[in-house]
Amino acid sequence: MYKLFFQLVFKRMDPEKAHYLAFRWIRLAARTPVLRTLVAAVLAPRHKELRTEALGLRMHGPFGLAAGFDKNAIAIDGMAMLGFDHVEIGTVTGEAQPGNPKKRLFRLVPDRALINRMGFNNEGSAAVAARLHARVPVFRTVVGVNIGKTKVVEEADAAADYVKSTERLAAHADYLVVNVSSPNTPGLRNLQATESLRPLLTAVREAADRTVTDRRVPLLVKIAPDLADEDVDAVADLAVELGLDGIIATNTTIAREGLGLGSAPALVQETGGLSGAPLKERSLEVLRRLYARVGDRIVLVGVGGIENAEDAWQRILAGATLIQGYSAFIYEGPFYARAIHRGLAARLAASPYATLAEAVGADHRKATTR
Ligand SMILES: Cc1cc2nc3c(=O)[nH]c(=O)nc-3n(C[C@H](O)[C@H](O)[C@H](O)COP(=O)(O)O)c2cc1C
Repeated sequence: MYKLFFQLVFKRMDPEKAHYLAFRWIRLAARTPVLRTLVAAVLAPRHKELRTEALGLRMHGPFGLAAGFDKNAIAIDGMAMLGFDHVEIGTVTGEAQPGNPKKRLFRLVPDRALINRMGFNNEGSAAVAARLHARVPVFRTVVGVNIGKTKVVEEADAAADYVKSTERLAAHADYLVVNVSSPNTPGLRNLQATESLRPLLTAVREAADRTVTDRRVPLLVKIAPDLADEDVDAVADLAVELGLDGIIATNTTIAREGLGLGSAPALVQETGGLSGAPLKERSLEVLRRLYARVGDRIVLVGVGGIENAEDAWQRILAGATLIQGYSAFIYEGPFYARAIHRGLAARLAASPYATLAEAVGADHRKATTR
């Protein structure tokens, strides 16, 4: 049904316009009491066995909405209504900015992929903080806040920009993510080098602790799939050393591997980050590498090309406690989260593991005890 609708309506529209249209419907439904209760009953049924505790937070399940969909925190309840167990808003930058010129979002339908060069279009940390402050939650959901660098801020001054966002947003964040991995802000990904990352993460940690004194806000870093393997190891070691709470793997890729199902060559050549199905293999590989390095000392969040329950289950076995999706939501539609929950519950029931937590990293344990 959604697939037919996608073919007839969304596919003919400019992808960014389709995004805002869908967004409007979701927000409208979430504001209408009877409708939102009905939609949530159908799309977000609870599976007790999927209850997840991570980052010191209790969630209905492990599957959340990846950053970038709700940059300005305007549809948290709408996304919870659709069954996402946590919603990561952002990326929010220190200052408001318009992002890159349009067109900046492209659908590679045959490859079930997207290319985007949005460039952190967002209302800025002050406006988003005010919105989160005023929010009266309808659905109880975990809200992650993903922060990044304002484009005009020099790389050398990046830490101050992240600190500004942290001071404004940390109080409203169930967890905070330092995004150093989007390919669409010049120089941003250089911040993944440990000599830049160490002072940045330390400054954000200190700012969060200064601002929020009644609890410890969990801090995560989000990394690119394009890091060399030894750089993935270096970030993992640094995260452990600094007492970080988690690593999100991965952001979009600048590589163009894994395509070839017939997307137009002109589209494939668009500049930006590739997400969706072609990213699956590398994101999984990075996750496996991270788990081999950090085990369960740090929460790993698996994201990149998760299209269905089997993909989600594979990430859990590979070491992810939490999982996220974005691109497949565009292709699969409103039943995306429900299908993942159902399939995960079925896989868990058929597995030798009593809980999801027991399944986390099982692949690695099997490989090392062989
Ligand atoms: C249009 C679009 C915008 C995105 N914006 C952000 C962003 O602002 N911050 C961020 O950390 N990740 C952003 N992402 C990356 C996603 O959060 C996710 O890491 C990536 O798309 C891989 O997951 P997927 O294959 O399920 O889409 C964006 C992705 C897309 C497709």
